[in-house]
Amino acid sequence: MKSTSMTPVNEIPPAPVEAADAAALAGSGSGALIEARGLNWFLQGPTTTYALGVTAEGHLVNRHWGGRLKAVDTAAWRPRLARPMLVHPAGTGPEVSLETVLAEYPAAGGGDFRTPAIEVEHADGARVLNPLYAGHRIIRGKPALSGLPATYVEDDAEAETLEIELVDETGGVRVFLLYTVFAEHDAIARSVRIRNCGDTPIRLLRVLSASVDLPEEACARWLHLAGAWAREAGVVEAAIRPGLQSVESRRGVSSHQHNPAFALLGPDAAEEQGEVWGFSLVYSGNFLAAVEREPYGLTRAQIGLNPAGFTWRLEPGGELQSPEAVLVFSDAGVGAMSRTYHRLFRTRLARGPYRDAARPVQFNNWAVTYFDFTETQLIGLAGQARRIGAELFVLDDGWFGRRDNDQSSLGDWIAHARKLPNGVRGLAEAVNREGLAFGLWLEPEMVSPDSDLHRAHPDWCLHVPGRERSLFRAQLVLDFSREDVREAMYARVAALLASAPIAHVKWDMNRYFTEVGSAGREPGRQAETAHRYVLGVYAFLERLTRDFPRVLWENCSSGGGRFDPGMLHYMPQTWTSDNSDAISRVSIQLGTSLFYPPSTIGAHITGMIPHQIRRQTPLRTRGLVAMTGAFGLQLNLPRLEAGELAEVVELVALKKRLDPLLRTGDLYRLKDFRRDPDAAWMFAAPDASEVFVVHVRGLVEANGPLRRLRLRGLAPDRCYRDEFTGAIFPGEMLLRHGLIIAGNTDFEAQAWHLRAMPPGPA
Ligand code: DGJ
Repeated sequence: MKSTSMTPVNEIPPAPVEAADAAALAGSGSGALIEARGLNWFLQGPTTTYALGVTAEGHLVNRHWGGRLKAVDTAAWRPRLARPMLVHPAGTGPEVSLETVLAEYPAAGGGDFRTPAIEVEHADGARVLNPLYAGHRIIRGKPALSGLPATYVEDDAEAETLEIELVDETGGVRVFLLYTVFAEHDAIARSVRIRNCGDTPIRLLRVLSASVDLPEEACARWLHLAGAWAREAGVVEAAIRPGLQSVESRRGVSSHQHNPAFALLGPDAAEEQGEVWGFSLVYSGNFLAAVEREPYGLTRAQIGLNPAGFTWRLEPGGELQSPEAVLVFSDAGVGAMSRTYHRLFRTRLARGPYRDAARPVQFNNWAVTYFDFTETQLIGLAGQARRIGAELFVLDDGWFGRRDNDQSSLGDWIAHARKLPNGVRGLAEAVNREGLAFGLWLEPEMVSPDSDLHRAHPDWCLHVPGRERSLFRAQLVLDFSREDVREAMYARVAALLASAPIAHVKWDMNRYFTEVGSAGREPGRQAETAHRYVLGVYAFLERLTRDFPRVLWENCSSGGGRFDPGMLHYMPQTWTSDNSDAISRVSIQLGTSLFYPPSTIGAHITGMIPHQIRRQTPLRTRGLVAMTGAFGLQLNLPRLEAGELAEVVELVALKKRLDPLLRTGDLYRLKDFRRDPDAAWMFAAPDASEVFVVHVRGLVEANGPLRRLRLRGLAPDRCYRDEFTGAIFPGEMLLRHGLIIAGNTDFEAQAWHLRAMPPGPA
């Protein structure tokens, strides 16, 4: 190998920024969201700038992603450094090495030895790609992504999109990178489209949605979510160590174990301070989220489709569109990053009539009856639910086929003859007569081997011929990657929804993928199945939500197994976890709130569920924890004592009074069990006129120190009155000294509903 000079780095003067770039940079901003200066683009969010440019050699590089840059001083740009032993493109010197460049979409096979964003196998078997700048255009608004959920705008003035075209001439591969910047949100939506412009098929081995390189010393740690069934969304913070570190899903769904989101943390980043770079993937299947620290201190962060088990054959002229990644920068800590995701996802990712409307208070029969119920019992429960203030009665699993346990009948979506003698419609109408809307549980992507559907169509599930089919909850995954299977299932589901007054659907999905093969696909395309499955689910949901526009859709996958932004595009709320123990839920819900709006976080009051966790918690604690999400109840009402019933009535009424503050207010996480003995969080109206604060004690200690809770999001110069007690607090005292926490009982919760008083003496 021909090595570069071994001259120490500091003896090589930094090469100047490309002359063409420097010249192009002269001049001031235009006021547009995307300022183009030569081949440099500055994507200007409300308080942030994402800047990228083209080097003299044609490589697309990151110039800056962070706080807003008003005037760009070219002299301060990152110098090119020649180091010993660097590989560099033919015809250039060591200072042009791709090894240390801040690349925007690094390709495999050339001189960038870090983990690539794209890898292609050409017809000749070569895996080299060198995509160079070929053109760009700026589009008003934001184009939709074909076949994929994505953030959107309602008016073109809300965003601008930069499309950059890169080309690898030798391989005939074109890469279109899309960057949308929003006028109202400090977020960049990125995605990639790959086109085969050659005359032979190619295989895509890796197509990530976003790759960003941050400079030396920008970030020190990273944060992601980890867990398992009933223990979702644990927050993990770790030092970034040299080399590659990643989380992923290979389970077909985004998974309980990890979530398609993470954040890089600056050296002093904390909940409400410091620089944070968030990454979130709008996708519901196998994903990869990776961070790499290279030897000279640069950090590469990537998110996209998981390359494990994935290849995609692109015919000449064919294209593949990647899912969208949403990147959020905050210089006010993790909390501000979360609030940006909340506002953007709640208003410009979620859709449908419930996006901006209060959700009905839901009563769900699952934890009350499980599979064992009668029509009379359900109607009785509905009546009681109405009397405590519920507005929607949801019939969960067990209503169809011969389903008396979880061993049969998925796919046979006809009413269980014994349990529902008057069919779904009979029950739905009876529930309506009790004064509640009716909702129904469905698991349309699944089939039980013991079902009429499977007996008739044994090849309609994911499977590999000649291999055993693993079981999981005695069910198999229907092959939604096949259009014929989807069509057949669509006809059944649509007929069911049209047959009765069904106002809500809980769409469940209780199985990871194994033996991922499709009878509808040629051998050379089997590795496309998992992604095609997700695309199939999206196509199904797009059509279903369009055909049944007034239904409230609730996403579920054994709790939070598919809690991701992709599903949020179709369904504005998700059942967050099968674990509804209030203390576990505090952590699960606060963890989920890192990237997802509280209004999407399904949370119900239940009794103690012994097969999950044997912990008794006060009813008020369960109520306060549940009401700060998409609220419901699964309580055995006939067994409650009069005092408990009265408390439930009060909690339901409080939840209704607090809407829309809880749905649209800014969430501040104040304390959490990860770091503190207690947990607390609050919602503040953006104009600081009203806040709701919840504090939950963990284990108390005897004779311990006085506990205080300092608030955020308040106006320091205003006084606040607590609606519960009438107590009055100056805003500055709440911000600087905080509330005093009373009580000495484990798991006790306290709440404050503070309203700003009119200016003047208190
Ligand atoms: C898993 C869900 O998370 C539960 O809420 C419940 O709907 C069951 N499935 C029913 O089988």
